[in-house]
Amino acid sequence: VIYNSDRGPLSGTLGDPSAFHVATFGLSGDDAAPVVAKLQSGARVDASAYIDATVDRITTTNIIAQTTAGDPDHCVMLGGHSDSVAEGPGINDDGSGTLALLEVATQLAGFAVHNCVRFAWWSAEEEGLLGSDYYVAALTPRENRRIRVFMDYDMLASPNFAYQVYDARNDANPVGSQELRDLYVDWYAAQGLNHTFIAFDGRSDYDAFIRNGIPGGGIATGAEGLKTEAEAGVFGGTAGLEYDPCYHQLCDDVANLNATAWELNTKLVAHSVATFARSFEGFPE
Ligand code: PHE
Ligand code: ZN
Ligand code: ZN
Ligand code: ZN
Repeated sequence: VIYNSDRGPLSGTLGDPSAFHVATFGLSGDDAAPVVAKLQSGARVDASAYIDATVDRITTTNIIAQTTAGDPDHCVMLGGHSDSVAEGPGINDDGSGTLALLEVATQLAGFAVHNCVRFAWWSAEEEGLLGSDYYVAALTPRENRRIRVFMDYDMLASPNFAYQVYDARNDANPVGSQELRDLYVDWYAAQGLNHTFIAFDGRSDYDAFIRNGIPGGGIATGAEGLKTEAEAGVFGGTAGLEYDPCYHQLCDDVANLNATAWELNTKLVAHSVATFARSFEGFPE
């Protein structure tokens, strides 16, 4: 990341010239034109020729909160990311998930738990899953084993939503947790609702967990993908339109949320916590 003193962060790769904002090189008009042309041709441009480049180191912080009660050797963990992209406020992505966690944590007070419950508000997800990657990498083998399941809650209120469940592979080398996947599927069915499966594509904070042997999963309502005709039939909304047309944009504000999806999914977050706070029966050891 290159910082220009007054324009904020610049990011992008040379293979993707459209990602560079030449204006932030401090050039404009006729001065900028040859640089723009060079970037668009895919050629390498030495930014240091145009700006006083400084590389900043920024410290960010995960927020982790755990119940004082409950067996600390058997924890259910859940998380959402507290950062947004620079382009917008990130209210669906991921204000919706972080707020669901806050609500469930608040409501959990006063209930007895058998297993410990650990909440995470991850930092720097949008910079490459940095907060959750760091957290999992820093776990000792014993601390790793104490986390029996990780549940990812990233984007729960997309305006053109689908009820998406991360699918766990059904084979000898499973990715993710089949038990958790089934909990979500069964709950939607009990509400008379449908779901669709999505693949673990490594784009959210479950990634470090499942790559390090901790069963994981989660739900979402969709990002930049387009809703299919079949999904519009099942969930309503608009076929051929993004699940979240404001994904990673300035308009991902409070008006971008679908309150029905948020409330329903927050109840499912509560159900997932209540289930595993009570028991891990049926879960692999
Ligand atoms: N984690 C992505 C983000 O924060 C959202 C996403 C998750 C998109 C999973 C697609 C699939 O931008
Ligand atoms: Zn126990
Ligand atoms: Zn995002
Ligand atoms: Zn996100």
